[in-house]
Amino acid sequence: MYRAPRGTQDILPPEQPYWRYVEQKAAEICRLYGYERIDLPMFEDAGLFTRGVGEGTDIVEKEMYVFEDRGGNSLALRPEAGTASVCRAYLEHGLHNRPQPVRLFYLGPAFRYDRPQAGRYRQHHQFGCEAIGDADPALDAEVIDMAWQFFVSLGLGRFKIVLNSIGCKKCRPEYLSSLKEHYSPHTDEVCDDCKVRFQKNPLRLLDCRSPQCQPIADAAPKSTDYLCAECTEHYNDVKRYLGSLEIPFEENHRLVRGLDYYTRTVFEVQPEEGGAQSSLGGGGRYDMLIEELGGKPAPGIGFATGIERIILGLQKEIVPVPSISSPQLFIANMGHEARDAALKLSTTLRRNGTAVIMATGSRSLKAQLRQANNLNVPRVAIIGEDEVKTGTVVLRDMTTSQQESMPVGKLLELFK
Ligand code: HAM
Repeated sequence: MYRAPRGTQDILPPEQPYWRYVEQKAAEICRLYGYERIDLPMFEDAGLFTRGVGEGTDIVEKEMYVFEDRGGNSLALRPEAGTASVCRAYLEHGLHNRPQPVRLFYLGPAFRYDRPQAGRYRQHHQFGCEAIGDADPALDAEVIDMAWQFFVSLGLGRFKIVLNSIGCKKCRPEYLSSLKEHYSPHTDEVCDDCKVRFQKNPLRLLDCRSPQCQPIADAAPKSTDYLCAECTEHYNDVKRYLGSLEIPFEENHRLVRGLDYYTRTVFEVQPEEGGAQSSLGGGGRYDMLIEELGGKPAPGIGFATGIERIILGLQKEIVPVPSISSPQLFIANMGHEARDAALKLSTTLRRNGTAVIMATGSRSLKAQLRQANNLNVPRVAIIGEDEVKTGTVVLRDMTTSQQESMPVGKLLELFK
């Protein structure tokens, strides 16, 4: 028997109310902040991610699903739902000609070949937003505020915003050399991954979760102490705006994010307990990405959230979500002629806008009523031989068990 591939999940009907709820809250927050929806391909040229997300990142190096299609093209299942793809679309469709910043949001799956565990999957779903074409720190504050308000609107209570600035191409080199200087006496003590990071991508050293690397990373120099004047001013403005919006945040010099495109502001939404590995969302500024992908310079900022993790949070905090409405009427029927009449009646009702389920198969009336009950349908129309002869139905209220016989015409009136 086949099973869903490891790290993927079926979203069965009982889980669907959570998904609809999160999607509705996402659409609502985007309406409030003026973000328009964009839908993007599930796979892209692999080069988009190697260039965009970065060759030295775990996401590209260890987790990306890369394949060659039958035409010999090297493609990748998108390891993030949107950022690099939105930038590609921005360039491809000349969106720089629209008023800047262009504000877009997306919702959909992303694929990472990771070790599956609770809250970590090989196919997960992201809701994310990108604002491209403006470097104003007020936009950073707006995006962080939007992420914050999104989680508040979901009814989640136990999360926090973690903030950092990792500078720009002007000030980062000096910071990286001081980081390497800090690590160089410890290269024998750090984990194997960090030995590679030290050579290839020193910023990632701060991301490490191995116990032996923690004291070294904690004592590492802070990027915020190495920012150039422009980046310092930008970061101070972001913090000042967040203060005036009363968005609580915590600064953490070890927050560098797992993707290479970030410049200046980076942030994460983390659960109060659980920490960085189970982040509910994350994002930041990527002022060089569009240029990196071959376009004229255009700064950008955005964030993405993990829908599965949000749903786990909603379930953990027992946040009530609206149920999806059940059909209004179930049509039970016994015998050939009754089936014929039930089929016609169902169709007539549906054409009038009533949601109807008709019993099929040849189960007893009792079994049909049980099915209606399981489906949460509030009322059942029963058609047997007598009803066919007299052009009537018996309407049963499933809560009170009261029944009333009536002409079909009256039933149609009732459900108009
Ligand atoms: P990311 O932090 O890699 O950022 O992913 C965003 C969110 O997706 C995470 O905070 C987490 O909730 C969820 N997530 C990531 N990996 C998994 C997984 N294996 N299983 C379940 N959930 C997961 C990005 O992807 C950036 N594109 C965010 C961004 C947008 N930056 C700027 N704009």
